[in-house]
Amino acid sequence: MKKYYIETYGCQMNVYDSELVAGILNGEGYEATAYPEEADLLLINTCSVREHAEDKVHSRLGEFSHFKQENPDVLIGVIGCMAQNLKKKLIQKKPYVNFIIGPDGYRHLPLILEEAPRKKHIVDTKLSRFEVYDELFPARNEGINAWISIMRGCDKFCSYCIVPYTRGRERSRSLESVVNEARQVIAQGFREITLLGQNVNSYRHEKHRFPDLLKAVAEVDGVTRLRYTSPHPQDADQALFDVHRDYYPVVCNHIHLPVQSGADAVLQAMNRSYSRDHYLRLVEQIRESIPDVAISTDMIVGFPGEKVQDFEDTLNLMEKVRFDAAFMFKYSERPGTKAALLADDVSEEEKDRRLQAMIALQREHTLAQNQRHIGKEESILVEGFSRKTKAEMMGRTTHNKIVIFPAKDYQPKQLIHRSISDARGVTLFAMED
Ligand code: 5AD
Ligand code: SF4
Repeated sequence: MKKYYIETYGCQMNVYDSELVAGILNGEGYEATAYPEEADLLLINTCSVREHAEDKVHSRLGEFSHFKQENPDVLIGVIGCMAQNLKKKLIQKKPYVNFIIGPDGYRHLPLILEEAPRKKHIVDTKLSRFEVYDELFPARNEGINAWISIMRGCDKFCSYCIVPYTRGRERSRSLESVVNEARQVIAQGFREITLLGQNVNSYRHEKHRFPDLLKAVAEVDGVTRLRYTSPHPQDADQALFDVHRDYYPVVCNHIHLPVQSGADAVLQAMNRSYSRDHYLRLVEQIRESIPDVAISTDMIVGFPGEKVQDFEDTLNLMEKVRFDAAFMFKYSERPGTKAALLADDVSEEEKDRRLQAMIALQREHTLAQNQRHIGKEESILVEGFSRKTKAEMMGRTTHNKIVIFPAKDYQPKQLIHRSISDARGVTLFAMED
């Protein structure tokens, strides 16, 4: 039996796509291996969202080429956003790569594998307006959370972002096929589902919008927890917050709502299509509608033209919102995007300074928000032993916060209730019953 090895970089959509590809390969009689040195097929699922992600893949491909030097029959394939973004350039620089497949080409994999040994290179990077990979079943590793992709692509064209170019136009799966997949993963033993899309809440299929889909999946028997990522503030509205309120605790008490910047001039240059005030009003509306909700975000520092005052405005927005968590990034110029036409005029040192100041402030906010849980009973979905010691176990609250507690004979996927006793760093702690 031929063996394949897949390494995945980037976002959760890539993790899902790797599972799709694994499903296709298993169907072709291949077997997965965790050891690249014994694989006949090496795949690397790549990300283009920041330059750093691309650099990592380039160096990893160099390492893969050694396996091929030892065994010339080994096939190397690059899939995902870098394949789409760099196309033939990638093969010119890395001639040992046998094929590259963009995010809409995975169905062609069996044919490509058949042809690859006879061809020098194969490039399949045609984007589709329709491909949503319905009727293909991802090979999921056993676990707690199952990802289900509900829509692909993005039409928002934020000026810094490569995704609309690498993943093409927005398209949604039917509500029925998503609900069927939800039933299937529950039957396989998953307890939590996360609905995935570049822009989940612009989901639209026939008369169904995102809140309808969220409700339909929440009503599937056996779904203990339901999450989704990532929504865009422009399409977030009361109908969505109502589903949170009405379907709690199945729909988790957590909204990840990327803000990117707290300065209107920057938001406008980013083509984010909302103002600082609009975002703050949304946060107010969310907190009025959903008691005890956790809000997390994404932010970028050092966007072209970001003045010190703009950055201060972002810190000020953080003070107003007090996010529970945030992913924070230095702006990375992506050739081909609108923002790449602007001068990348914030120096690397200044980007570093802003990022460090932002991280420090966010740490304070995370801790303060976590301390609010002390003394409260939280439901915790057990994941397993803590990374440090078998004397402790870890799980997550509905807010997606990690809790550490003394180990007992709990099983992964068990839902337990504990009073939170402490908050340190970004972690919550609970005592024995
Ligand atoms: N530079 C820095 N961060 C970026 N993101 C997307 N594109 C870029 C870029 N060019 C960030 C955004 C997005 C998250 C997934 O990655 O914050 O929400
Ligand atoms: Fe990129 Fe903006 Fe689309 Fe998110 S919404 S994938 S940041 S273009």
